[in-house]
Amino acid sequence: MRILITGGAGYIGSHTAVALLDRGHDVTIVDDLSNSSSIAIQRIAQITGRAPVFHELDARDEEALDRVFADSSPDAVIHFAGLKAVGESVAEPLRYYSHNLDATFALLRVMEAHDVRRLVFSSSATLYGGGQEPPYAEEDGPFSSTNPYGQSKAMLERILTDIAAADPRWSIAVLRYFNPIGAHPSGLIGEDPNGIPNNLAPYISQVAVGRLPEVTVFGDDYETPDGTGERDYIHVDDLAAGHVAALSRIAEHRGVRTWNLGTGVPTSVLALIGAFEEAVGAPIPRRVGPRRGGDLARAWADVSRARAELGWKATRSVADMARDSWRWQTMNPNGFSSAAPPV
Ligand code: NAD
Ligand code: WQD
Repeated sequence: MRILITGGAGYIGSHTAVALLDRGHDVTIVDDLSNSSSIAIQRIAQITGRAPVFHELDARDEEALDRVFADSSPDAVIHFAGLKAVGESVAEPLRYYSHNLDATFALLRVMEAHDVRRLVFSSSATLYGGGQEPPYAEEDGPFSSTNPYGQSKAMLERILTDIAAADPRWSIAVLRYFNPIGAHPSGLIGEDPNGIPNNLAPYISQVAVGRLPEVTVFGDDYETPDGTGERDYIHVDDLAAGHVAALSRIAEHRGVRTWNLGTGVPTSVLALIGAFEEAVGAPIPRRVGPRRGGDLARAWADVSRARAELGWKATRSVADMARDSWRWQTMNPNGFSSAAPPV
């Protein structure tokens, strides 16, 4: 198939591009590089031996997107492009709502104009937790979020549902990711956050490599076995494989359907630090601090729907995730900016 990926230079998009190219699909990437590097595009080609077509553009630029569709005639689209930092979204709600909604509106209009109605959409497990207990199943609601980022995902899920209801030619997969971590085993692509990481795994990696002094554990008095928060960490390559499975499914079925992509296994903050210590072969300095506002104690996926309907399940362990994150971090201590400039 010919697949167009918005946000394909980013963390999850670059791994998904590799998974698709490895399986023989043709890939076109559009990305404005606002949170990524063109080096990721070169690395995708280096890993797969096949270069994706790349267009540096803002997905909100409908005319530019229209030209890309005319050139590449995609069979399906995977839409990763958007802003994703929860704290930033609380500080700048207008920017977050308008960016995430406008980029998706532009994409949907161009898809309709080119008669392309197969879409895989990046949603988030941030929608869960409104009173339910884990494991979270897809039908567990209500789906609203405490932050504008999550709320933009809830709105977009609703918009996609309405579009598919109005026109039965649409085939839409909504994928709710749990906590993607890890990196491609080549060490050539991985997560490269701007500034100080907000998320646990890149924070641990940067402490382990000496860029940050210590990990702060956000609370050890939760009602969990070791008192620290539990999450469903999933290897980014398992997540990428989930997108490939979703593409196959929407080639056969119409309408909109939602799947959780997680492992179904909870891991605590201390257990994740322990897995990194094993991978690194050294202790990782940490101290216990107060709880972070807005955090759930426990969140993990019910993965039975994805297993049954996509024939997909995550296969990589937390040890694999820590090992691959660490390889990426040591090979690229300053992320993609570690790469030598072109000669
Ligand atoms: P990322 O920031 O690494 O990737 C997003 C990419 O989109 C970046 O390369 C960025 O430059 C690009 N982009 C942003 N706005 C754009 C625009 N208007 N036009 C073109 N390109 C644009 O993020 P990621 O972690 O790979 O996340 C991908 C998607 O998955 C996002 O929609 C995110 O909300 C969602 N998601 C991520 C996580 C996570 O923990 N990483 C969890 C759940 C959902
Ligand atoms: C994991 C655990 C923290 C940092 C976020 C977004 C969510 C989704 C994925 C996009 C929690 C603890 C963290 C640290 C810590 N993204 N922690 N010290 O909050 O589950 O999910 O990323 O959709 O929307 O909210 O992930 O990695 O920030 O936190 O102790 O320095 O690690 O309290 O228990 P989270 P996280």
